[in-house]
Amino acid sequence: MTDEPLVLGIETSCDETGVGIVRGHTLLADTVASSVEEHARFGGVVPEVASRAHLEAMVPTIERAAETAGISLSDIDAVAVTSGPGLAGALLVGVASAKALALGLGKHIYGVNHLAAHVAVDQLEHGPLPEPCLAMLVSGGHSSLLQVSDVTVGVEPMGSTIDDAAGEAFDKVARLLGLPFPGGPHIDKQARSGNSVAIDFPRGLTSRRDLERHRFDFSFSGLKTAVARWVEAQQRAGATIDVADVAASFQEAVCDVLTRKAIDAASSRGIEDILIGGGVAANSRLRAMAEERASAAGIRVRVPRPGLCTDNGAMVAALGAELVARGRAPSLLDLPADSSQPITTVVA
Ligand code: KG4
Ligand code: ZN
Repeated sequence: MTDEPLVLGIETSCDETGVGIVRGHTLLADTVASSVEEHARFGGVVPEVASRAHLEAMVPTIERAAETAGISLSDIDAVAVTSGPGLAGALLVGVASAKALALGLGKHIYGVNHLAAHVAVDQLEHGPLPEPCLAMLVSGGHSSLLQVSDVTVGVEPMGSTIDDAAGEAFDKVARLLGLPFPGGPHIDKQARSGNSVAIDFPRGLTSRRDLERHRFDFSFSGLKTAVARWVEAQQRAGATIDVADVAASFQEAVCDVLTRKAIDAASSRGIEDILIGGGVAANSRLRAMAEERASAAGIRVRVPRPGLCTDNGAMVAALGAELVARGRAPSLLDLPADSSQPITTVVA
């Protein structure tokens, strides 16, 4: 037997109903029901559709997770749930379900920060987080550089996007190229057969002047516009558009800026470990470039496997287990869902 905490985590901040079960740093179940196909024809997540889908998927997903983990729900030590940030209605379904479960089982509830959970999930794959580490979270909703000294206490924001998130840029450019939603994985795939230096797209906030004010911040909206203009110009000229080349050149511009700034942020604080999380961390070029550039700078890189990078319940359970293990206080049962929960609030 082990005295490591057994925690069930619920994630509903966007379009994935995720239920994960972990014991300490060991993943026992990671069950995800996605409503992504219901949103595809709208080209983006429709909040009301997502909330309804969570409601329908919640109980079967919890049951499937418990069955996969081979546990009975009464065995768990605590319930963790994403309390924010995310879509308000979607979060509400998760938080209400977690409260019902915690109350019914007589266990503590931890309302946790979605971004801190993206950081904590790596422990399931690579063991305890190096302290401190530099986390780069890149998803459909966020692009941030954070200094993490103890993920259960708080994280210090160093920089973030001033307009679009990295994943949002992937999704918008994919749409422009006629690729399905969500666009990240399709750009990644197309880019493999494209030429990444075919088109010289702009690198946002990297000029000397911008670096003075925005050294660790990102901007992707100029890049998105540059791709749109380039595509329009080709169309006007009657030229065929090489989707693979545009995808590869766009992806190169995003990865170039992300890796450059992450390494600069880590180096500026003498941090030797970079952790990449969020859906865009699944990008194959980002992984390869980060690995290559970091190793040249004497920095180690940790990236969870793609299934743990996109939204899932295991990440919430992983953070919950760490909170229990470190004796952090749980949330109260009147815990609110907070769509704009600040990154500095790990437990609501
Ligand atoms: O973390 P996540 O699942 O949800 C949010 O919290 O946003 O991230 C989803 C985002 C989408 O924008 C999707 O296009 C992007 O992650 N994504 C990728 C890849 N896989 C998912 N972006 C680039 N390359 C990928 N392979
Ligand atoms: Zn996420």
